[in-house]
Amino acid sequence: MKMAKIIGTGSYVPEKILTNADLEKIVDTSDEWIRTRTGMQERHISDEKTPTSELAYRAALKALESASIDAKNIDFIILATVTPDMILPSTACIVQNKLKANKIAAVDIEAACSGFLYGMSIARQYILSGEYKNILVIGAEELTKVTNWQDRNTCILFGDGSGAAVISGSDDDSGILSTHMWADGNLADLIKLPAGGSLHPASKETVEQKMHYIQMSGSEVFKSAVRIMEEGIRVALEKAKMSVKDIDILIPHQANIRIIQAIGKRLEIPNEKVFLNIEKYGNTSAASIAIALDEAVRTGRIKKGNVVALVAFGSGLTMSASIIRW
Ligand code: ACO
Repeated sequence: MKMAKIIGTGSYVPEKILTNADLEKIVDTSDEWIRTRTGMQERHISDEKTPTSELAYRAALKALESASIDAKNIDFIILATVTPDMILPSTACIVQNKLKANKIAAVDIEAACSGFLYGMSIARQYILSGEYKNILVIGAEELTKVTNWQDRNTCILFGDGSGAAVISGSDDDSGILSTHMWADGNLADLIKLPAGGSLHPASKETVEQKMHYIQMSGSEVFKSAVRIMEEGIRVALEKAKMSVKDIDILIPHQANIRIIQAIGKRLEIPNEKVFLNIEKYGNTSAASIAIALDEAVRTGRIKKGNVVALVAFGSGLTMSASIIRW
């Protein structure tokens, strides 16, 4: 086995759309502020009855279809999310059951917005070791269910969605050339959802103090994100023995258009090589890269032979980057 390769992708977003104009009615904000500060115009939001596992399942079905593989031939399901259906069982187990997959390994991983790329990196190692043949990696998230709709600093940013990829072995030269994972727990306070775990179990007080919602120091995150993602791409390129000039398309985590532009500038990558869909979906956390990758494939932005660079950062802080020859 020479390479681990993505053989199929899929994505899914809920039907309901929340526009910037809708947000103007909820908090003190404006379409103009949101567009210029973030690049977002609308985002999709899930309804009360639809959990993350359902979004994950729908993206998985599409990925399996595009890979022309039956769920019964999947050996391992890795699901990246910070918004599982519940604390236990894992959402991966729920998805395994929905897919009617065999009783294979299934696990949730949590690396916030870097989760899908962490999952891809783990999957690659299992493929290269020969342990598994076909792995389903999913990034699925419903951040709008843990959003404080009175906090204009955060509620404008997030959307719901899911993306998936089937990773298998390949004997040609196309596939995942490198991955790089990183984290700095010293910056853990920058983005957090403090309650509901063992430190602050759910109580009347935690609810009253709105501790079950995402809290974020936006401008601090912004500064770290640009530096960390630039470094991540450079390390992943070095591991792949490539340079910035080799990149045909850069797919960065869709967190903020100004962060993306700053990375493009620092790497000196022309705008036309940078993939953007932030205007339609907002920040979908672990689903962001997976949705963008699927869209880039389906719209023909990624062509056979292209060198694709992926990079994400998120709460932790975490970061992950990867270079793929398509
Ligand atoms: N509408 C209008 N004004 C607002 C809004 C809003 N929605 N939100 C904040 N403001 C105001 C602030 O109150 C502040 O006003 P003041 O100067 O009177 O105090 C002013 O706008 C500037 O605020 P900043 O926070 O400095 O704005 P900034 O330019 O940094 O943009 C933003 C804020 C968009 C959050 C940006 O910092 C950002 O995108 N940061 C990165 C966030 C991110 O990517 N997180 C990803 C991780 S999510 C995860 O891991 C699950």
